[in-house]
Amino acid sequence: MTDQTTINEASATPLSNSRKVYIKTYGCQMNVYDSTRMSDALARDGYEPTSDPEDADLVLLNTCHIREKAADKVYSELGRLRDMKKRKAGEGRDVVIGVAGCVAQAEGEEILRRSPAVDVVIGPQTYHRLPEALRKARQGERIVDTDYAIEDKFEHLPAAEPTKIRARGVTAFLTVQEGCDKFCTFCVVPYTRGSEVSRPVHQIVAEAEQLVAAGVREITLLGQNVNAWHGTGPKGEAWSLGDLLYRLADVPGLARLRYTTSHPRDMDDRLIAAHGELRALMPYLHLPVQAGADRVLKAMNRRHTADEYLRLIERIREARPDIAMAGDFIVGFPGETDQEFEDTMRLVEEVRYAQAYSFKYSTRPGTPGADLKDQVPEEKKAERLDRLQALLLKQTREFNESCVGKKIDLLLEKPGRMPGQIIGRSPWLQSVNVDAKASQIGEIIKVRITGIGTNSLFAEPLGA
Ligand code: 5AD
Ligand code: SF4
Repeated sequence: MTDQTTINEASATPLSNSRKVYIKTYGCQMNVYDSTRMSDALARDGYEPTSDPEDADLVLLNTCHIREKAADKVYSELGRLRDMKKRKAGEGRDVVIGVAGCVAQAEGEEILRRSPAVDVVIGPQTYHRLPEALRKARQGERIVDTDYAIEDKFEHLPAAEPTKIRARGVTAFLTVQEGCDKFCTFCVVPYTRGSEVSRPVHQIVAEAEQLVAAGVREITLLGQNVNAWHGTGPKGEAWSLGDLLYRLADVPGLARLRYTTSHPRDMDDRLIAAHGELRALMPYLHLPVQAGADRVLKAMNRRHTADEYLRLIERIREARPDIAMAGDFIVGFPGETDQEFEDTMRLVEEVRYAQAYSFKYSTRPGTPGADLKDQVPEEKKAERLDRLQALLLKQTREFNESCVGKKIDLLLEKPGRMPGQIIGRSPWLQSVNVDAKASQIGEIIKVRITGIGTNSLFAEPLGA
């Protein structure tokens, strides 16, 4: 196996001292997951993680390209790193700098041109080749690997050690699907992450079992278009995400399941049924709509109308009445009129979101949206975003207020800011502060919500 080769090679060239890697992760949860997988692969090559870039022999930026600002941040960080690398070289220490993630995929060679300090550029499809790229970089080569690898990177990335999983906590991400074939006209994902690929059932179940064996209680299945996941069941039958959730709900010790992010077009009956029937499936659904006017939805190539989205939510709420809805919105898509923006506001009023993420449209080179005339002026976008965010914030507050007085199951997750306090996670993905002992982390306890703060709720324990 490749893992073995990696170990042998590492021990064939003894290290004078252990190396440290600092990974900075930008963007979505899939990048967070990928960073842990890269960290695990690097551990096999003798790299210990550090939280201090000054202490690192390898600095790896796992980047995001979804909006213009996200990519700009990477280049300014690379500027700072160039100075650090120069200073360290003066002190006799060679620092290797790597760029991974979606900016790496989108910009490739361009990163080497713009940022002379960068040694390795590696795209999301080839993380299993990172150790090899780093060995070459240590010999002075500059590497760009942004292929869409034919081999499956997950088959080739080593599994994490149980102690490492345990140290990361009682909740974990698990990527089940990557890439996207939807081609929304504003979005770079189909270009940076490639076309839709689903991981096979056996791989997913094995990884879930490993996580649970190491103490994980809640798993969030990840995918750019997670509910487009498809696979094959034990009898050779076609499975959709709903079937996979039923299977994972049977993993002993796995208390909670979530998945993100979904496309309205892929919410099939089996998945909706899972929300009604599976106790382990938490009542929270992130279902982006982006806009509320049918003309804009069409121009975005979302392939559904506002009404179809609203009817879909009705059906989901019939199956699971207490489900908390979350959404994504883009304001100022090219050609969006004042009237069309009001349609978005009306849709939000109708849905009542518990949580939402909203953005000004950002032109992404290479996407069809970039070529559209009628770009909306920045001030207009800012004005619309202010109004939309005020409404969404109000809805989040109202949702949180509606929880006060409720008795809920709380998964105790990590120490709170005050001694004697633990932060837990509610079924609706809220952070909740409660008095509990550190030894209880990982338990699910009954609490009553007593109040709300700015970013979290407060609760009192209700005994066994
Ligand atoms: N401009 C602004 N927001 C965008 N998103 C994706 N692409 C763009 C863009 N070009 C938002 C969408 C998506 C979320 C992850 O980011 O709302 O759901
Ligand atoms: Fe981007 Fe649309 Fe695919 Fe989501 S569904 S990743 S917004 S192209």
